[in-house]
Amino acid sequence: PIEKRIENLMSQMTLKEKIAQMSQYVGLEHMREAEKNVTENELLNGHARGFYKDLHSSGVERMVAGGEIGSFLHVLTATEANHLQSLAEKSRLKIPLLIGIDAIHGNGLVRGSTIYPSPITMASTFAPGLVEEAARQTAVEMRATGSHWAFSPNIEIARDARWGRVGETFGEDPSLVSQMGIAMIRGLQTNDFTGTDKVLACAKHLVAGGVPANGTNAAPVELSEGELRNTYLAPFKAAIREAHPFTLMPAHNELNGIPCHGNKWLMTDIVRREFGFNGFIVSDWMDMEAISTRHRQVENVKEAFRLSVDGGVDMHMHGPVFAGNIEQLTGEGRLSVARVDSACYRILEAKFKLGLFENRYVDEKMIHKVVFTKEHQQTALEIARRGIVLLKNENNLLPIRAGKYRRILVTGPNVNNQSIMGDWVFDQPTENVWTVLKGIQQEAAPSEVNFVDVGWNLRNLDEKKIEEAVSVAKSSDLAIVVLGEDSFREHWEEKTCGENRDRMDITLWGKQNALIESIQKAGIPVIVVLVNGRPLATPWIAENIPAIVEAWEPGSMGGKALAEILFGKVNPSGKLPVTIPRHVGQISTVYNHKPSLFLHPYIDGEKEPLYSFGYGLSYTSFTYSDLKVSSSAIKAGDSVTLTVTITNKGDRKGEEVAQVYIRDDYSTTTRPVKELKKFKRIVLDKGQKQTISFTIGKEELAYYNRRAEYVLESGTFTLMVGSSSLDKDLLKTKLTVQ
Ligand code: IFM
Repeated sequence: PIEKRIENLMSQMTLKEKIAQMSQYVGLEHMREAEKNVTENELLNGHARGFYKDLHSSGVERMVAGGEIGSFLHVLTATEANHLQSLAEKSRLKIPLLIGIDAIHGNGLVRGSTIYPSPITMASTFAPGLVEEAARQTAVEMRATGSHWAFSPNIEIARDARWGRVGETFGEDPSLVSQMGIAMIRGLQTNDFTGTDKVLACAKHLVAGGVPANGTNAAPVELSEGELRNTYLAPFKAAIREAHPFTLMPAHNELNGIPCHGNKWLMTDIVRREFGFNGFIVSDWMDMEAISTRHRQVENVKEAFRLSVDGGVDMHMHGPVFAGNIEQLTGEGRLSVARVDSACYRILEAKFKLGLFENRYVDEKMIHKVVFTKEHQQTALEIARRGIVLLKNENNLLPIRAGKYRRILVTGPNVNNQSIMGDWVFDQPTENVWTVLKGIQQEAAPSEVNFVDVGWNLRNLDEKKIEEAVSVAKSSDLAIVVLGEDSFREHWEEKTCGENRDRMDITLWGKQNALIESIQKAGIPVIVVLVNGRPLATPWIAENIPAIVEAWEPGSMGGKALAEILFGKVNPSGKLPVTIPRHVGQISTVYNHKPSLFLHPYIDGEKEPLYSFGYGLSYTSFTYSDLKVSSSAIKAGDSVTLTVTITNKGDRKGEEVAQVYIRDDYSTTTRPVKELKKFKRIVLDKGQKQTISFTIGKEELAYYNRRAEYVLESGTFTLMVGSSSLDKDLLKTKLTVQ
């Protein structure tokens, strides 16, 4: 049994070797890239800037062979992974390395991987089954290239569009985020991750990083415990209880005055003791140090390490000074050896279960057989087809009918580059990427496609080319303009969206407005496609452009899926997992706001967002009827069945996401006006109808009150079912809890 193997190994380990298991360093290629910017002298003397101070790639190699490092992150090739493992095999106890990577939607930092649509796009499918499949395939691709641990899923609740990381979350709703997070963890780990084609999942970031002050990454968060539990901790509770992620990562931010990385209440009392988490916690990059250097809670990093490890973090991500400090702290009796033992035990447990002691190397010749396979591409395509959201379609401009338009202008910064891939993706081989242009060229025949390249750099679109696009528009019959944001890592300096790319404004960047406004003036029908990770406030477009498609970041196969939707091969069915504000001032207008929000509306603008949570159009139309509840009154603890009939009234087959919301009509601590509790995606042929049912019970009706007690209060509830969170799209009935 694994327990015996761990105990046996640990009985041979020195304290230093145990601490080594808690130490994670960054991959050599990554490090060498950074070393290019500093002189040898600076490196050796420790004067190098930033994270590489005191570090040198060859020094790190010596440390691996000496058994001083237990884990790496961002090892970008199988060759390097094998090299590092071979060094580890030279160490006294030959303990294999655990290699982690930000495989957020596919193993995107590794060249040649399948890039699935980004999490916000995945969430728009409301199809957890597809997400689970994508994660299962991602695990296979990761293992084939030497990684064993995905720093994913990000199950933060994103409620501020200024925050650059919205695209790597599943949106604003606790229930949807929970379901998607559970699916991704199940796919990555396949339950207990024992075996050679599974990886560890890492539910992150604990907690509430998606509502930072001012919308900037890692800024402080203040929340009541009730709100924290109802909204931000809910996905962690659900994921830990139902899918058992083996690892967690705390958030950069402080929560109610305590940095998450040193928050014992959060990591140990809530997550481990109350929710039952039994894996290990890895820090975020240098965030243990940040307890002192950024949050200024303690005076030095040694004390920061003590707080963090004692509070519950088991592994330190990146940095040379951790191990020595932990050794000193244990020597001084300020950190218990038992705490080091418990961290080491869990890390070794992962290594044994993943089969690393038997299979630490990968066969580089096999990679092409399992990476970017036809099957994986198909999954990426299916997700993109269902995750792209049709926002507006005046006079049925879409789908574009073959041959109706002789000349089609295709332009905009996101037509022909890899920003469709989303964040956490490095440059992928061109032949692996269905850009929007490639997709349109494939589907548009017999129309003539005229592409005008205005450049990809949103900070600096080519003015001459904008003029050319406008002139081509004048002689075209239709324009497709692809706008949005740029999350592509290769464009690090120019990137407008993604990690540490927060904005104070959420309108279209740069000259994009000038581009679309002048093309619209050409007087031809115009379709706008948005490629973006964060919600964008585009009221002018919403008002003046007849057809709008929110493509999010649809991944490797994105251009194909998008073109299939534009030209009618695929009927759109995505629904928004976040509210799209009309203006930055509406942040954070979420659909599940408290009743008194906008008691007094703005005097200088509307309070309604541009598009609501759960909203998304189809080329057919669905009607909801016959909403019935099995009983109009129940006792606490009982449940009811809700049934509704959905009919496809249009003239083509389509998919619909039925959504169930509840409202606690009156509650002792105020509750949101609507809370999504269940959803179901169904397929209906034209004219077909289907009756579906949902169970609603204590789990759906109860909440945490202001004293953080989980209660189901008696009284009436409104149950709502329909095609979006908008009142006009919902049928309602009442339920009394006695
Ligand atoms: O996993 C990430 C985390 O989400 C943000 N900081 C860096 C980590 C490793 O890349």
